[in-house]
Amino acid sequence: MASVREERAPWRLGRLRRRLRSPPLLLLPLLLLLRSSAQAAHIKKAEATTTTVAGSEAAEGQFDHYYHEAALGEALEAAAAAGPPGLARLFSIGSSVEGRPLWVLRLTAGLGPPPTATAAAAAGLDAAGPLLPGRPQVKLVGNMHGDETVSRQVLVYLARELASGYRRGDPRLVRLLNTTDVYLLPSLNPDGFERAREGDCGLGDSGPPGTSGRYNSRGRDLNRSFPDQFSTGKPPSLDEVPEVRALIDWIRKNKFVLSGNLHGGSVVASYPFDDSPKHVATGIYSKTSDDEVFRYLAKAYASNHPIMKTGEPHCPGDEDETFKDGITNGAHWYDVE
Ligand SMILES: *[C@@H]1O[C@H](CO)[C@@H](O)[C@H](O)[C@H]1NC(C)=O
Ligand SMILES: *[C@@H]1O[C@H](CO)[C@@H](O)[C@H](O)[C@H]1NC(C)=O
Repeated sequence: MASVREERAPWRLGRLRRRLRSPPLLLLPLLLLLRSSAQAAHIKKAEATTTTVAGSEAAEGQFDHYYHEAALGEALEAAAAAGPPGLARLFSIGSSVEGRPLWVLRLTAGLGPPPTATAAAAAGLDAAGPLLPGRPQVKLVGNMHGDETVSRQVLVYLARELASGYRRGDPRLVRLLNTTDVYLLPSLNPDGFERAREGDCGLGDSGPPGTSGRYNSRGRDLNRSFPDQFSTGKPPSLDEVPEVRALIDWIRKNKFVLSGNLHGGSVVASYPFDDSPKHVATGIYSKTSDDEVFRYLAKAYASNHPIMKTGEPHCPGDEDETFKDGITNGAHWYDVE
């Protein structure tokens, strides 16, 4: 889970900054907290199995290529099929500019069999399945910048691990999916992903318009296209960013209590807010009323990550940048206007 968030610091032109949002980090804390000592022996056994499974999949070449185009949906279907019946639902929350589906895999126990497409349409059923009262909804979103690609893959691997772990009875994962409604959206910018070229690092907005995979196909940075409480400018037109519109509509229909956004780049858990009314370039701690919770979650994630926990990622171009405990308040790092 070393995916990270990548950003251009307005005060350091020509350089790409990256960060990992802390809310996304939530999943790891959840998994850790759910581990009880009484189950330790079983877990040891299950972990041994995990290693074997991961090892054999790697041997079959499953971790050595990106899922392009339809292969992403197929990989998610396969992940869903790795679990027992009724554990997963695959659906799309809308389409990118070029018409690619925005896939979400939902994982939680007791969803029941999916309705057939025609039955669902006739009954006006939501392909996502019913909301389950009392079960907290958690979502992770990846690949919002099309050229920040690791999260797209990692979320598929996570889906596979959750589903197959549930099936083999890993107590930690069974308990997690018995009590939590998990939604994985591996690629919010599938058009940008297809345009991105490996090795083409940091083109960002310095290349000819539209050439970088960072933006959507209308040249918009999805990560700068959401309404912002402190924004001084005009809110972006959602017509330019159907991906953002789809995400907003979907969020409004649900009640997510934890969310994370995985980016590529530096290795840090960054938590809200990302800007302040003053829009000072850096060094302003912009607190939410849930600051303690965010710090706790960010720390739980960072402290379990071999590089993040050092607080010294030594990223090329930013070798001297350090983060105490591997975490940062977004605006304190830099203000995103
Ligand atoms: C998970 O849910 C299933 C089905 O309700 C139940 O049989 C099982 O005991 C639960 N396991 C845990 C660890 O909560
Ligand atoms: C995008 O990134 C900015 C800056 O880090 C942040 O303010 C915002 O929360 C992000 N938005 C989404 C939807 O990821």
